[in-house]
Amino acid sequence: MGMKKYRCVVCGYIYDPAEGDPDSGIAPGTPFEEIPDDWVCPICGVTKDDFELLEDEAIKITPKNIETTSGTKERSEELEFNEIVPGVFYVGAEHWDRRLFDELIPLPDGTSYNAYIIEGNDKIALVDTVDPEMIEVLFNKLDRLGVEHIDYIIANHAEQDHSGAIPYLLEEYEGAKVVTNAKCKNMLIDLLQLEDDNFIIINDGDTLDLGGRTLKFIFTPWVHWPETMTTYLVEDKIMFTCDFFGSHRATNRLFVEDEHKVLEDAKRYYAEIMMPFRKHIQKNIQKLEQYEIRYIAPSHGPIYPKPDLIIDAYKDWISDRVENKVLIPYVSMHESTKIIAEFLYEELTARGIKTIPFNLIETDLGQYAIELVDAATVVFASPMVLGGAHPQAVYAAYLTNALRPKTKFVGIIGSYGWGGKMADQIKSLLVNMRAEILEPVLIKGLPKDEDLDRLITLADTIAEKHKSLT
Ligand code: FEO
Repeated sequence: MGMKKYRCVVCGYIYDPAEGDPDSGIAPGTPFEEIPDDWVCPICGVTKDDFELLEDEAIKITPKNIETTSGTKERSEELEFNEIVPGVFYVGAEHWDRRLFDELIPLPDGTSYNAYIIEGNDKIALVDTVDPEMIEVLFNKLDRLGVEHIDYIIANHAEQDHSGAIPYLLEEYEGAKVVTNAKCKNMLIDLLQLEDDNFIIINDGDTLDLGGRTLKFIFTPWVHWPETMTTYLVEDKIMFTCDFFGSHRATNRLFVEDEHKVLEDAKRYYAEIMMPFRKHIQKNIQKLEQYEIRYIAPSHGPIYPKPDLIIDAYKDWISDRVENKVLIPYVSMHESTKIIAEFLYEELTARGIKTIPFNLIETDLGQYAIELVDAATVVFASPMVLGGAHPQAVYAAYLTNALRPKTKFVGIIGSYGWGGKMADQIKSLLVNMRAEILEPVLIKGLPKDEDLDRLITLADTIAEKHKSLT
């Protein structure tokens, strides 16, 4: 990165690395850090220890000239799409080939870790960082932008996909401070082994002056962890929401272009990450809506130039509204359960209910999670294995319970050879759900006429229950 000037705190002499101190044998171009320790201030004679970084001089972002086939262009022209508004830049990393998040969540379209540079007249702030795996991408973007100094690293969230690069940045940008809340600070100390004096602690509603630009910190807990917060750039009306309103997609398009597609991505993201925190989200949306918002800039996926697009979608997803929809996650070993699930599917279809089966051996569980957002009913279908449900059905039930969807009714169907406790086992996995558990339909071997009648009764019951939804 660029060389920095230092000021003698005793006499005010400024050491400029471009000029060096030739009279003392320090050649032009020598960074202050590389001056021998026995060098002294040429004016007053104090040692290097009495010099401080000249921040006022060092913080200005200077556009770099970039050679292109059409000649020399300024950075702002070359990297136009990275600029949200003048002086506010995207410097994140697109992770095209990541296929799992937290070793759990499928990422069919990769993801991005969005970080943003905000240039004030006096100070430079970086909002969030990137997964440490992508640190070089962040450094390259900062370098192309000509960022020579960072005063503040705003940590909206301690999870390492946004914070993991902080140790590298503190090493590279001398004097930078991590600005965050007390809870996040403690987590960052635990997760990244940062030191106490790396931090500036802010409280809910505090502001930070960058010179002509103001950051306001709004605590938005539980979107995704308890320490999560949002940073509002007051003058430009940009909400930096980190995970909140994010979507897992790697794209080099700065802003949302295909609204339908981004809502699908954002719904998947909501389902997998935010859905368990519905009640918190409700409060946090109300809190953010007190501000005028021009852009929502999350730390995954593209930026929303029409904030209402994602806010309205979230309001629907977190509402108590469910659709006349049944999901049938199923697994079948010898076709009996598949036959049972297909029969129920046909009966529900005949009653005009949108019904979606998911073969748990092959399905993208992210797609299942998306449909869980507003399905009225889930019917788990499994054979009995070693006295209980098939492990894939157990996993589906466990995951469903963990995601805490607003599902109103749960059914349990399947086949068995000689007995077992599948229904009780699945019920015991659904303790977080406030759904009504319907009478299970467990069938010995292949379904006989009386078994099919029980499935018809189940379909009738679901149809009747769904009438109460409208
Ligand atoms: Fe994108 Fe909770 O981290």
